[in-house]
Amino acid sequence: MSGLRARAGAALGGTTRVPGDKSISHRALLTSAVAVGRTTIVGLLEGDDVRRTAAALAAMGADIVREAPGRWRVDGVGVGGLAEPASVLDMGNSGTGARLLMGLVASHAMTAMFTGDASLVRRPMARVTEPLSRMGANFVSRSGGRLPLAVIGAKTAVPIDYRLPVASAQVKSAILYAGLNAPGETSVIEGEPTRDHSERMMRHFGATVRVEDADDGRRVTLVGQPELIARDVAVPADISSAAFPIVAALLVEGSEIALAHVGTNPLRTGLLDTLVEMGADIRLVNAHEEAGEPVADLHVRAGALTAVDVPPARAPRMIDEYPILAVAAACARGTSRFRGLAELRVKESDRLSGIARGLSQCGVKVEIEGDDLIVHGTGGPPLGGATVAAELDHRIAMSFLVMGLAAKAPVAIDDAETIDTSFPGFAALMRSLGAAIEAP
Ligand code: S3P
Repeated sequence: MSGLRARAGAALGGTTRVPGDKSISHRALLTSAVAVGRTTIVGLLEGDDVRRTAAALAAMGADIVREAPGRWRVDGVGVGGLAEPASVLDMGNSGTGARLLMGLVASHAMTAMFTGDASLVRRPMARVTEPLSRMGANFVSRSGGRLPLAVIGAKTAVPIDYRLPVASAQVKSAILYAGLNAPGETSVIEGEPTRDHSERMMRHFGATVRVEDADDGRRVTLVGQPELIARDVAVPADISSAAFPIVAALLVEGSEIALAHVGTNPLRTGLLDTLVEMGADIRLVNAHEEAGEPVADLHVRAGALTAVDVPPARAPRMIDEYPILAVAAACARGTSRFRGLAELRVKESDRLSGIARGLSQCGVKVEIEGDDLIVHGTGGPPLGGATVAAELDHRIAMSFLVMGLAAKAPVAIDDAETIDTSFPGFAALMRSLGAAIEAP
């Protein structure tokens, strides 16, 4: 395990592009693997999580080749055409890869076994096995519905009408991917809209996906057994990765950066809205659409931030951004409150307590009240001077390195390898903007 340390230095500057969107990369692979014909994906995230999904799909018969950096070729097997994998599918750190693939496999008449790293085997899977069981799949799992787990797929899957008990794009997507090989219409109703990359990607490949307002939320309906036709995909840069240089540039005095071609799907931009409410200078330029997803360049300039109160309804639109938002709030003037964060407890780590622990180590006063996080901003550089445990959580690791760039004393993380799950080349990219991030 090797760590990294970040310290305050000169202003950040320059133009760069962060790696491809993790959510869209998983979906590009899953969808092209069950399409008919050859798909070329450019801008694919080559982090560990996405590579595991590619390897798992290849183990089930899709022909997947890395042609050049970020450029992957997929020859799909058609809907319902996956073959039983000969060995266990190891999804590493990836909740998205595990849950979406469990869905896809659930409507194939075969058995597939899933496992993952020490973080993934702690995470709840009953939230997907429960609806997928209703569709006719069977599961044998460790106690508490955790990995390792075997999926015994349905011979003929039953389409369902399912109301999500938690706001989770992974659960919605697992059901929709299972629905691809179910006759009839599969519907998911979500109380709060979550990221809709699966819906957009399936449509891009020719599926019919309807979205309607329902009394109790938003109803997403997929018409089953479509003929998916290969279509090329350009993956935008990941707004959840862009979040780290954005907040770094806001906090380090005199900084001005531009980030190219960032995905700006409105169900992902809660962080931008929140930072703007805090007084951030962030501009979207050159907005357009690509492969069914909105993209834009982001221009960011440093400036003082003030505290914010984030309502629970915004959580699904920025669920992965609370660790870095907490760092911004720690440097802002006033007391911030982020409401309704129960889901943060079941991410790659318990992020609610991870954020609180790391911030207190850096001299920031923080409280957890029920599912709310309260951060007492220092209105300037926090003390810093800590080594924070990453706990197999890439976003905790990157957030506290950004804290080190803004704090009085350097901040280190104990494990930098975990960053590769979503943001390979993070330290080099940040250094290219002028950030002082190095081996401790
Ligand atoms: C994701 C959905 C979110 C998010 C994760 C990626 C996705 O998880 O935290 O990083 O790609 O669908 P939940 O659906 O569990 O909220």
